[in-house]
Amino acid sequence: MKRTHHCNELRKENAGSPSTLIGWIDSLRDHGGVFFLDLRDREGKTQVVLDPENATLSALFPKLKPESVIEVIGEVRSREEGTINQNLATGEIELFANEIIVHNQSKTPPFPLDESADRVSEDLRLTYRYLDLRRESNLHALKLRHRASHAIRKYFNDQSFLEVETPILFKSTPEGAREFLTPSRLNAGKFYALPQSPQQYKQMLMVAGVERYYQLARCFRDEDLRADRQPEFTQVDLEMSFIDREDMYALIEGLLKTVWQETLGEEIQTPFLRMPFNEAMNRFGSDKPDMRFGMEIHDFCQEFRTSGFKVFAGAVESGGVVKAFNAKGLADLTQGELKHLEETAKSLGAKGLAFIKSENGEWKSPILKFLSDEEKNALRDRLQVEDGDVVFFAAGAWESSCNILGRVRLEAATLLEKRGQKLRDPKDWKFLWVIDFPLMHFEEEEGRYVASHHPFTAPVEEDLPLLESDPKKVRGQHYDIVLNGVELGGGSIRIHQPEVQKKVFEDVLKIPADVVQSRFGYMLEAFSYGAPPHGGIALGLDRLVTILCNRDSIRDVIAFPKTQKGQDLMTDSPGEATDRQLRDLKIKSIAEEA
Ligand code: AMO
Ligand code: AMP
Repeated sequence: MKRTHHCNELRKENAGSPSTLIGWIDSLRDHGGVFFLDLRDREGKTQVVLDPENATLSALFPKLKPESVIEVIGEVRSREEGTINQNLATGEIELFANEIIVHNQSKTPPFPLDESADRVSEDLRLTYRYLDLRRESNLHALKLRHRASHAIRKYFNDQSFLEVETPILFKSTPEGAREFLTPSRLNAGKFYALPQSPQQYKQMLMVAGVERYYQLARCFRDEDLRADRQPEFTQVDLEMSFIDREDMYALIEGLLKTVWQETLGEEIQTPFLRMPFNEAMNRFGSDKPDMRFGMEIHDFCQEFRTSGFKVFAGAVESGGVVKAFNAKGLADLTQGELKHLEETAKSLGAKGLAFIKSENGEWKSPILKFLSDEEKNALRDRLQVEDGDVVFFAAGAWESSCNILGRVRLEAATLLEKRGQKLRDPKDWKFLWVIDFPLMHFEEEEGRYVASHHPFTAPVEEDLPLLESDPKKVRGQHYDIVLNGVELGGGSIRIHQPEVQKKVFEDVLKIPADVVQSRFGYMLEAFSYGAPPHGGIALGLDRLVTILCNRDSIRDVIAFPKTQKGQDLMTDSPGEATDRQLRDLKIKSIAEEA
């Protein structure tokens, strides 16, 4: 090895010994003819001071550029009292350089590689991702991700799971998201689809008798991207035979406990709270509630059934709901903020966002004149309205009213935090199982039922008779693991009897029999050769690590992420295909036809 130590290794005890370090020049300082530089590698930094008597070094110094890679050969020296840097682990020593070899002189980087780069455009940072990754916070994210993956592998290994890899070249299945297609050269005109998840393969592994499978699986979804979504991402994917939901809760609670211990050194409390989907929607307006703060949503259908405010009475009359929550202490919101909240509500389909402010002992609202004293009293009592509060309403269909207030509740929390309130402590770990989801919901656009999760989820046993008579009442044996408003993962106990699976595909989801046969025929066949009862789950590793690192975007914890437009700016992907490539694949581009 060329180096004797890394840049975070030398201490007072090493004083007097020779040492060779290699790394990047972090900074250069000329203190009146005494030349200093900080040398940085993956582990940390060490200060280097150049031998002032050495003419070669003195001549070299002005030519050195930050981010160049150099090798420094010298002697470790204790720093004098008063020059010790308490903020640096190596701050008690410096390397007294006798020789410097420049391995690679760097151009001036397009942005500074310190934390001020957070203000530089993300596109520029992604174009030079290899430079951006040199920054300590980004390197930290990669290290923490590694530690999390390692802890996960160890945990599953200790629990007798087998790590099995499944194909990336898969086939198209109507699972939910849009897929990426890859043409097959050897089967002209046919396409592979990249897997949205290893769902079907892992179920086949259960039929194969593997009993306990896991994988850190790459998944591909051609979705519109957001801060918590990437077109390719990683799942902690697993499947087990001979289990029920309780086994899965215990397994995943143990997993997360281990990950928190191994990465943050923190103890999290288990078992986690469990909440039915309906309750989560009613109280928090979300199937992934952030339970770190209150401001819960309340139902006022009874109170407003005969209201003088026709928007509310009308909503109840037509089978909808009236819901409200108290944004505690937000009555001083500005016109601009109110408009922003209204627009948020409207983007989710609301016709408006009725509100009542309580300010200086008075209630103010455009709808106040329509409300009776009983209605006002009910609001005051149940929402505990005090001076300085503002109440927001949604009236309309149940699910959309819940969603609207759920989002307004989160936006209101952001506004309150801007005013200095601490509502969402990033270290306040509020884990939650959301359970009892409806197995399917009616998709108005398609005019049919679609699976809420995926069509392999088993119905809750006692709801089976409703499968044909009242499908929307059937609950699925599905569970989501939620942390602080983020859906970390989801899974279910699966259907393992071919006749139940066939019924769900054909009679309930109304997938035509020939499509079922071509897409899932092999599964139904497999289930008729001794399929064990089984279930599984997948956790989004990127989302998990984002939370562990307290970052805002999953792009921050992925080495080479894609932009919102699905591009890798560093390699300029996706790129054009050559005519030759297209010919080989028997693909005609539309441009060619025109
Ligand atoms: P699901 O579709 O709920 O379930 O995905 C599981 C978890 O994967 C993460 N995730 C994503 N992360 C980043 N970018 C994305 N585009 C993205 N999409 C999903 C989320 C999510 O909770 N096969 C089933 C699991 C099962 O039933 O066992 C599945 O894929 O954290
Ligand atoms: P309008 O009578 O339509 O002018 O509405 C009066 C107030 O109620 C306005 O502030 C609207 O934004 C609000 N509003 C209208 N429809 C709804 C609804 N469905 N849910 C909540 N607020 C609404």
